[in-house]
Amino acid sequence: MKTKLVVLTLFALVLALPVSNLLGLSGENEPIAVIEGSSPHFTKVTEIFQNKCVDCHSPGMTRMPIYAKLPIAKRLMAKDIENASDRLILTNELYSGKVKFSPVQLARIEGVILNNSMPPALYLSMHWNDSLDTEEQQTILDWIKEERSHLAWSHDSTSTLKGEPIQPLPLTVELDAQKVALGQHLFHDTLLSGDNTLSCASCHDLTKGGTDQAKVATGINGQQGPINSPTVYNAMYNLAQFWDGRAKDLQAQAAGPVANPGEMGAQWDTVIEKLKRVPDYTNAFASLYPLQGLSKETVTEAIATFEQSLVTSNSLFDQYLRGNNNALTSNEKAGYELFKVNCASCHSGPALGGLSFEKMGVKQNYFMLRGDQLTETDQGRFNVTKNEKDRHFFKVPVLRNIEFTSPYFHDGSISNLADAVKIMAKVQRNKNLTEVETNNLVEFLKTLTGEYNDKPITKLTKVDIK
Ligand code: HEC
Ligand code: HEC
Ligand code: HEC
Repeated sequence: MKTKLVVLTLFALVLALPVSNLLGLSGENEPIAVIEGSSPHFTKVTEIFQNKCVDCHSPGMTRMPIYAKLPIAKRLMAKDIENASDRLILTNELYSGKVKFSPVQLARIEGVILNNSMPPALYLSMHWNDSLDTEEQQTILDWIKEERSHLAWSHDSTSTLKGEPIQPLPLTVELDAQKVALGQHLFHDTLLSGDNTLSCASCHDLTKGGTDQAKVATGINGQQGPINSPTVYNAMYNLAQFWDGRAKDLQAQAAGPVANPGEMGAQWDTVIEKLKRVPDYTNAFASLYPLQGLSKETVTEAIATFEQSLVTSNSLFDQYLRGNNNALTSNEKAGYELFKVNCASCHSGPALGGLSFEKMGVKQNYFMLRGDQLTETDQGRFNVTKNEKDRHFFKVPVLRNIEFTSPYFHDGSISNLADAVKIMAKVQRNKNLTEVETNNLVEFLKTLTGEYNDKPITKLTKVDIK
């Protein structure tokens, strides 16, 4: 309905003005020169951006067409610039190559090129020359691959796959082995809860994909929590922790559940006293943290160090990225192609997520489809920032080991992976997947299941991780 109105308004504008006026731009910007040492295709790419994207994605640098003086056009353009800037701001530093595009920016740009969705159709109806031709699209895609090949993440990928939106997880991580062992003990120790019944592992069981495989978490005294437990595997790749990102890193996160009355329901002072009565702990902390000793700081630091070891490498998909072309079946490869076009603009990087906050329901209202009453946790990132624009935004969950971490979404409302995939395609991309497409996507996602301590995480037992 809204789009229709916009189309009509713009159409009226087109009729009211001679075409030459429409195309006449005022305030043409001087081209910004590229600094030396940029990727080979960048000179051409920045020229395209400066000609065809600048009007909406560079607030303050917009070339104003004559019709922009009309109040309605002005309002529409301001809205476009605002919405466009929420997703991608092209600054002088980016245009010149002084600042590198981030992996998230690259993934978003790749997404709009693969979907041929930028510049928007409406804009093109008035700026006929500004659509991207096939050659320009290819140049942008080639540049994105070049940029990605320089990321530390892709150093392990085989040369032909260094430009992919997803990178293999490292086979080893350099960490202080003693701190990892200490953190592992603490992670599994029920002394961290108020009534000595729960450990971190109660809700993040490493033999259950790092989750509790339940709709929502159960805290002490059987209390049902408001939200689904995300996995701790590969959580180190998250830009912030929790669905709404309210903890800045793993150490800050670990302080939360212990003192949360609905989760472990303890007081940190009491927990520290309890731990100090265990000689193994006092000895370990004295030798590993000689200055600080045993404190909330060092306990959470040890747990966070352990969590950094929770990298599930060597999945079939990683074997493929490292150059074993036979690691994937043709269906799995077809699923990956679909994933690149429809999903990787949000689910990218080594963990296929964790790099940005995104709206749940970009194209369709997920919460209407779900039907249940809205809860406070449904507000997502808004609860942290109180910014209206963050309502229903969530940290993009990592998709590693996804077949094993059901049920899905922050509300744990979906237990079947194929259903979760269909819902994602629908609400994020306005796309109804066929059965074949859904199956291929699911088969691809299943290739993301990895190993911990050299064992497939689906086969880990309590003995392997204690
Ligand atoms: C007429 C204004 C306009 C022009 C010109 C324009 N965009 Fe956009 N762009 C938008 C708006 C509005 C959005 C946000 C809503 C949406 O995604 O459709 C957006 C969103 C985007 C996004 C984010 C996609 C995501 O994942 O959310 C990218 C990337 C992008 N544009 C790239 C480009 C590139 C590259 C060009 C030039 C080839 C371009 N845009 C030209 C208006 C514009
Ligand atoms: C009662 C169940 C429960 C216990 C016990 C628990 N957690 Fe969690 N954990 C959750 C839930 C639920 C969330 C998501 C909460 C949210 O986002 O609001 C979460 C989130 C996390 C995250 C963030 C992951 C992400 O993707 O954002 C990490 C890391 C984590 N927990 C580690 C721990 C550690 C370490 C402990 C022990 C100190 C612990 N948890 C104890 C239920 C629990
Ligand atoms: C616009 C960004 C965006 C796009 C595009 C997107 N996702 Fe998501 N995805 C998210 C966010 C945000 C969530 C978490 C939403 C929530 O829990 O409320 C999510 C959650 C998921 C989950 C559940 C993960 C879990 O642990 O609960 C799966 C599975 C998933 N996405 C798969 C896909 C697939 C497959 C596609 C492509 C068809 C896709 N996504 C496209 C942003 C996106």
